[in-house]
Amino acid sequence: MIKRSYYKQKIWLGTFGMGGYVTSDPNNDDERDVEAIRYAIKKGIFQIDTSESYAGGKTEMLIGEAIKCFSRNRLVIATKVREYNLFYDAVIESCKKSLERLQTSYIDVYYIHKQNPEIPINETIAALNKLLDMGLIKNIGLSNVGIDTIKKYSQLLKKPVYAVQNQYNLVCRESQRKKIIDYCRKNRIRFIAWRPIRLLYPGCPDPFYPEGTYKLLDEVAKKYNKTNVQIAVKWLLQQDCVEIVFKSSNKDHIDEILDTENFEILYEDWKRLDEEFPVQLEVGCTANNYFEVT
Ligand SMILES: NC(=O)c1ccc[n+]([C@@H]2O[C@H](COP(=O)([O-])OP(=O)(O)OC[C@H]3O[C@@H](n4cnc5c(N)ncnc54)[C@H](OP(=O)(O)O)[C@@H]3O)[C@@H](O)[C@H]2O)c1
Repeated sequence: MIKRSYYKQKIWLGTFGMGGYVTSDPNNDDERDVEAIRYAIKKGIFQIDTSESYAGGKTEMLIGEAIKCFSRNRLVIATKVREYNLFYDAVIESCKKSLERLQTSYIDVYYIHKQNPEIPINETIAALNKLLDMGLIKNIGLSNVGIDTIKKYSQLLKKPVYAVQNQYNLVCRESQRKKIIDYCRKNRIRFIAWRPIRLLYPGCPDPFYPEGTYKLLDEVAKKYNKTNVQIAVKWLLQQDCVEIVFKSSNKDHIDEILDTENFEILYEDWKRLDEEFPVQLEVGCTANNYFEVT
């Protein structure tokens, strides 16, 4: 029996790195990844996030394997179509291939991974609407987008945009600064923060910020008797409408994230992290700058 709580509905299991990163890794411990996905589901994280691009499609296959022993209708599976597959026929084909790899008859949330200014948005939207009609996808998400792009999709899609997935953590503040989160909140679109744990940016001393990296984080973590990772994640989860997608193949790490349900950061401490965290940039170190389509 999968136990769900409202809190857990704000948590998605990410899978970037399972089976490999950009291409399939022959040395990867696939069994461990499959077990981690199953463990997360048993613990109530029933929302799984992936992409056709992860490990060259292998990650979707691992998810397909992992979810076999659960009722499909209790799970929420999100995957993404890459930015160079956004022509009409390519979107349809990508979706069908993802379905095959995931061994499922529908995708709950189908994301556009990134915008591609070379491909007319109407063409992509026509394909998404067709996939909705065919029942192959249930909802549409947008990833790495700004407000203007969300508005354009919203005007032409048959269904309201279900979710926006952008990079957002204590360091990467673009979605906060550009009011993308506020826009989602007002328009009842889930805002899903990718990379909630790893603080990557040029010159970053350690992406997992062990004690001694950021004094403020150490101080707050000590006050609540929690780890730095838990405080960083909780700072996100205490924000209205903000959800997280985190990756872990480690059961203890999954438990550590779930344990954030058991405490609250006082507003004064939350605000200090929000305003005084010493490194605040737009997007960290990835090339996922938001594209606004014209
Ligand atoms: N839309 C997009 O363009 C986009 C881009 C990037 C990522 N994403 C999605 O977002 C997900 C998360 O991003 P991410 O994987 O880059 O970063 P992340 O979730 O912030 O960090 C993942 C890393 O943190 C470690 N970790 C997890 N829990 C931990 C804990 N409690 N303590 C210490 N370390 C912990 C993991 O290692 P272990 O496995 O050993 O726990 C892994 O190395 C991805 O998997 C993917 O689904 C989307």
